[in-house]
Amino acid sequence: MTRQVGRPVSLADTSLKDVGALTAEDAALELERLAGLIAEYDKAYHTEDAPVVDDATYDALRRRNVALETAFPELVRADSPSERIGGAVSEGFGKITHAVPMLSLDNAFSDGDVQDFIGKVRRFLKYDPLMGALAVTAEPKIDGLSLSLRYENGRLVYAATRGDGTTGENVTSNALTIQDIPQVLPAGVPDVVEVRGEVYMAHADFASLNARMEANGGKVFANPRNAAAGSLRQLNSEITKTRPLKFFAYAWGEMSDISADTQMGMVELFGQWGFQINPLMKRCESAEELLKVYHGIEEDRSGLGYDIDGVVYKVDRLDLQGRLGFVSRSPRWAIAHKFPAERAFTTLNAIEIQVGRTGALAPVAKLEPVTVGGVVVSNASLHNEDYIKGIGQDGESIRGGRDLRVGDTVIIQRAGDVIPQIVDVDVSKRTAESVSFEYPEICPACGSHAVREINPNSGKVDVIRRCTGGLICPAQAIEKLKHFVSRNALDIEGLGEKQIEAFYEYDMDKGGVRSPADIFTLAERDKSSFNKLRSREGWGAVSARKLFDAIDGKRQIELNRLIFGLGIRHVGEGNAKLLARAYTSWTGFNEAMNSATDTTSDAYRDLNDIDGIGGTVANALVEFFAEEHNREALDALLAEITPLNVVVADSSGSPVAGKTLVFTGSLERMSRDEAKARAESLGAKVSGSVSQKTDLVIAGPKAGSKLTKAQSLGIDVISEDDWFELVGDN
Ligand code: IVH
Repeated sequence: MTRQVGRPVSLADTSLKDVGALTAEDAALELERLAGLIAEYDKAYHTEDAPVVDDATYDALRRRNVALETAFPELVRADSPSERIGGAVSEGFGKITHAVPMLSLDNAFSDGDVQDFIGKVRRFLKYDPLMGALAVTAEPKIDGLSLSLRYENGRLVYAATRGDGTTGENVTSNALTIQDIPQVLPAGVPDVVEVRGEVYMAHADFASLNARMEANGGKVFANPRNAAAGSLRQLNSEITKTRPLKFFAYAWGEMSDISADTQMGMVELFGQWGFQINPLMKRCESAEELLKVYHGIEEDRSGLGYDIDGVVYKVDRLDLQGRLGFVSRSPRWAIAHKFPAERAFTTLNAIEIQVGRTGALAPVAKLEPVTVGGVVVSNASLHNEDYIKGIGQDGESIRGGRDLRVGDTVIIQRAGDVIPQIVDVDVSKRTAESVSFEYPEICPACGSHAVREINPNSGKVDVIRRCTGGLICPAQAIEKLKHFVSRNALDIEGLGEKQIEAFYEYDMDKGGVRSPADIFTLAERDKSSFNKLRSREGWGAVSARKLFDAIDGKRQIELNRLIFGLGIRHVGEGNAKLLARAYTSWTGFNEAMNSATDTTSDAYRDLNDIDGIGGTVANALVEFFAEEHNREALDALLAEITPLNVVVADSSGSPVAGKTLVFTGSLERMSRDEAKARAESLGAKVSGSVSQKTDLVIAGPKAGSKLTKAQSLGIDVISEDDWFELVGDN
């Protein structure tokens, strides 16, 4: 084997030895050399366009590397060439943690939603008409990808994509090729400036880029957004340079100084600093005015020369934005009013029934693939069996009562990232053979009866038909596991839906996974298994090891992720966070849930008292913990993992951190929502009722029984004014 081509790099002599004859030391040395050598050849080939070895030699090196890794899996290197494809280094761009998270926007789909948004903002702020008009800006929602540009002392230090909102990718060298992005800001700007906005591609530029790519025999981009994303996320900035990208500034992150007091003022400042700002941005004083701007922009949409997918409204005054704050990942002071969804005709080829983790039978429409708004759609949600029959949630008729049948011509609609919906059916196209769809009453996964329960509260028949198979239903078990490893739960890299399906099928002594705990014993069992993961199709020594490492990395897990991951009915991410905050440790939560199974207990009452947790959620939790097999599964899981205790929000110096507060009576300077949000941001818990656990009651005029109870329990009571003084908001 010739290993020396172009440059005097050589491998140790050990490379000539049979892999089986190598010592671990030899192998480690050779793996190190191979990693360096292959990386160098990759760079020469992909980045410098100047290969220094022929393909056969190169392939032999890679094969040798894999052979060594298979024989010595414990020696697989972090920079192993096996996990890297050519020049597209899988680590890709460096990561950047945003100084201020990059948020997303809540959506409005109708004029009514916009009126609701304004109403909510006014109520939250107790915004009195006497305080003058509430100014809100309206501007196009650019359909590109967001970018954060950080300048220090007037110089661009980095450009980062949004990523997951907390951490993005460092695309600085690519951003430097975009003309709309200044590298230097004028003298006098604050020391730290983070300008945020949208990278996009204009229609004309998109068309000529695609024409160029096609002429060169390359693939074309489906739409300008994909073209912009593909161009910005190029590992080779020389390529990005040839792509006509543009940038609009519309928001900001960290700023060492804010020299305007409105949204409009800030954006105008960005314009003065040399950024492109959208000329259609307007300041309005009522919902009606906003809607006028919206409909105007909608009319002009096709002539703008770039894609937009709605209009964004933002409360103009920055002090009010500050008071409004955020709900999870979106600001309360802004909303995106989306344009109506795009529609298309297609054929309903089949109706498939999927069984979810709680046993719900969910019908899915299998469609003849059709392009809607640049995306190929082949599935659509059908919600439930009534929906197929043409009956809505409350028994009302939908689609004029027309049912959906296999073979029908249907109109589908896609709005943003929402799952496509079937909005209507063309019954005139039905053939004589057409028959109405018969919804199964037997679970297609396990054959158990599937029933529609009667809701004990309303006495009404549930719209959802559920499999009664429980533990014996493989579909439920698999869906529960998928949920457990999903992104917002345990988030185990390399263990996705496909892998869960495969692992579920294996025997337990051959690396099977049937319950969450099994995931954490996989590596240990793999050691003694005759059917090792690394020898299975689709897996190798490197990927198997990576998976085991990823699993190990989740042995310590945030409490809210664990609670969410359990897949308890009605316990979504939001409720899981509320529970984690309330109980702060797994022990606390587990003990409370076990005691709460007695609904006359204090534990049950405390659970119901958590602000935001209602009776339905409490009952679902009680039901879950009352099941013997759930408790067993939890015990097994908890023997493997350590949930992290909740650390009370960073509220250094906050006088109410960790305290339980109750607001009662009418508040005059703020709304109840604002009071609650502010208290929580200071690390306090807000409860709806007074008990021995209450630390402080803030009582406004007309306070009644809660005040009396607080007094009888000897709990501190203060006025609304005292509250502002206490938290320093005067
Ligand atoms: S404001 C805190 N303004 O929409 C709010 N976003 O759904 C920050 N977008 O990730 C965003 N045009 O990529 C804002 N004029 C505009 C926008 C805009 C497009 C994108 C942005 C963001 C997403 C949120």
